[in-house]
Amino acid sequence: MTIVLGADHGGFQLKEKVKEHLSKNNIDIIDVGAYNEDSVDYPDIAMQLAKTFEEKKCDYIFAFCGTGIGISIALNKIENIYAALIYNKETAILAKEHNNANAIVMGGRQLSTETAIEMVDAFLAANVLDEQHARRRKKIGY
Ligand code: RB5
Repeated sequence: MTIVLGADHGGFQLKEKVKEHLSKNNIDIIDVGAYNEDSVDYPDIAMQLAKTFEEKKCDYIFAFCGTGIGISIALNKIENIYAALIYNKETAILAKEHNNANAIVMGGRQLSTETAIEMVDAFLAANVLDEQHARRRKKIGY
């Protein structure tokens, strides 16, 4: 499994913690930046995430900004990206089960490292549910 990670300056610290956790669990990582806390615009990171996701055939995008809001809006304007802004274990699971999200987004200034790690583990362990959820997803193109 390969996951592409990216963050603006507001999400940088949490991205680093999640990246470390994923690497320890032998998950392949591609990090598109930011690589420090210098100010960077989240739409630029969203574009880089989507480009890498498609070119490298990654399994998921994990994205971070201060609230998670800006980068989730930016990602959801890109074709074939279905980004879910998650904020606890339950929303992490439902982002996979109900929404089949190919991108999850977290607010670096909103979440503890412990919560974020619990969330990414829950998302990765969850399975997509079909039937009425597939019908609903189809109505928005996937
Ligand atoms: C950057 O200061 C902040 O606005 C950004 O990280 C994000 O929270 C935007 O939605």
